[in-house]
Amino acid sequence: MNTSRTAVLVKPDGLQRGLIGEIISRFERKGLKLVGLKMVNLTDEQLSDWYAEHKDKSFFGELKSFMGSMPIVCMVWEGIDAVPVVRKLVGTTLGREAEAGSIRGDFGMSQQFNLIHASANGDDAAREIKIVFSDDELFNYAGARECVIYADFELAKLKE
Ligand code: CMP
Repeated sequence: MNTSRTAVLVKPDGLQRGLIGEIISRFERKGLKLVGLKMVNLTDEQLSDWYAEHKDKSFFGELKSFMGSMPIVCMVWEGIDAVPVVRKLVGTTLGREAEAGSIRGDFGMSQQFNLIHASANGDDAAREIKIVFSDDELFNYAGARECVIYADFELAKLKE
């Protein structure tokens, strides 16, 4: 069990499809806590850092130009095992194969236009959060619902 933070981007297609509220609502209903939120137009430099692992792929340039084509919504969500929990809510990359009930499974058909990004692991989450958020844009606050979302032994972990 691990209390962690994870980065989420709602991509240009998610913004244009009007899915920001739906996506935030799904994470809220799950019991995750929102600790950072902003709308930004990511620069080519930020996108090169963000997608460094894809720099040799044929779609790298197209991916960056798509992601930089308009503002996107960036979020940081917190909770026990936040990284895998959010990945599961988001679903697998290819929308038309993603599990029904996941965000991509319910709203997407495409590989590139897959609506949303979620950090793949804890190291990626830490790196990605730093690309977009400064320390003073991330918040620590007591979640009023946590006592009904987690049992006492889990709450103790949350406070470690
Ligand atoms: P994500 O997994 O969030 O991060 C890498 C992104 O690259 C992926 O979502 C897709 O949006 C995009 N992607 C993956 N494969 C392709 C492809 N073949 N062509 C264009 N974009 C792609």
